[in-house]
Amino acid sequence: MSTAYAPIVDRPVRWGLLGAGSIAPALARAVASTPGGEVVAVAARDLGRARALADEHGVPRAYGSYAELCADPEVDVVYISSTHPHHAAQALDCLAAGKHVLVEKPITLTVRDTEAVLDRARSRGLFAMEAMWTRCLPLVRELVQRVGAGEVGRVRSVAAAFTVPFGYDESHRLFDLANGGGALMDLGVYPVTLAHLLAGHPTDVQVLGTTVPSGADDQVGVQWRSDRGVLVQVLCDSQSHGASRTVVRGSQGWIEVHGPVNDPESFTVHREGARPEEVRGERRGFAHQVEEVHRCLREGLVESPLVPHEASISVMTVLESVRRELGVRYPQEEEPLRA
Ligand SMILES: NC(=O)c1ccc[n+]([C@@H]2O[C@H](COP(=O)([O-])OP(=O)(O)OC[C@H]3O[C@@H](n4cnc5c(N)ncnc54)[C@H](OP(=O)(O)O)[C@@H]3O)[C@@H](O)[C@H]2O)c1
Repeated sequence: MSTAYAPIVDRPVRWGLLGAGSIAPALARAVASTPGGEVVAVAARDLGRARALADEHGVPRAYGSYAELCADPEVDVVYISSTHPHHAAQALDCLAAGKHVLVEKPITLTVRDTEAVLDRARSRGLFAMEAMWTRCLPLVRELVQRVGAGEVGRVRSVAAAFTVPFGYDESHRLFDLANGGGALMDLGVYPVTLAHLLAGHPTDVQVLGTTVPSGADDQVGVQWRSDRGVLVQVLCDSQSHGASRTVVRGSQGWIEVHGPVNDPESFTVHREGARPEEVRGERRGFAHQVEEVHRCLREGLVESPLVPHEASISVMTVLESVRRELGVRYPQEEEPLRA
């Protein structure tokens, strides 16, 4: 990992929030609960909503435009929590203004845009990370470490699902293609990320799915054979209840992960001839990714080893090939999807 800028060592990391929507308060709370950082500014398209969020979290400055946030010399890192179609352009603007960025998932809509943002960060010598908080959770790190160490033998298959019963509402961003709608990009990004971590990159992909009238997908099933010879099955659904569990099956045992795929509660390791072992981990939500951002900025890193740029690009490559199979194309996409 390269060092490019002066590490932030002698003072707190100063955060700016871009967007004052439903997830922004979670990051504000995580920063407040984590030593070494503070939120110093909030920006929204509407000053009143920026001010309301700032007041609720004791943040000193509120702006009615993102440009004012970018121009604030006392902001080190911007958390971008707008809806997905806006991430790429906003991240590029923040980087142009010399800010580090933490960009909500999915980092952009396309591989091309993901590469553009991450390449720009590297060339500017700034830190950029997709807010794939799941990769920073101690329990997920332990799961990946144990699977990689061969705890269940050779991994043969991985199954992961994320289903949430949002209920169809054509005005909600999840069903609005023009606002980045789709179960795959919003929910599927988590099981795809976890399966990719545990099984590797696809060599062959099979896809089934359904769409709502706007053209956004609401249910997607994906199977892939990975470059490690693992069979992966991923399901996401924005209109279904159901267990979002993850299972790793190996030649000498299997692991069942309990709780949501993006924030598991525990996992149970079943080994041949041994009693099942239940493993728990510290579970502090977004605080783990906030700590990781602070650590990286203190060390002068341009990318996190826990959420490397290559991983965001690889996962986006999977999402893009699944969308191509489904025929889901965002109006913002100017270029054809890549093979
Ligand atoms: N990590 C997680 O667990 C998690 C959970 C939920 C969401 N997310 C991600 O966070 C992002 C935001 O999700 P959310 O649920 O917070 O969304 P949201 O509340 O619907 O919108 C977030 C913000 O995006 C901007 N925005 C919304 N619609 C827009 C439009 N049509 N044109 C321009 N800007 C628009 C607004 O910014 P202003 O406030 O400036 O107007 C809005 O406050 C998404 O990318 C999502 O995938 C992550």
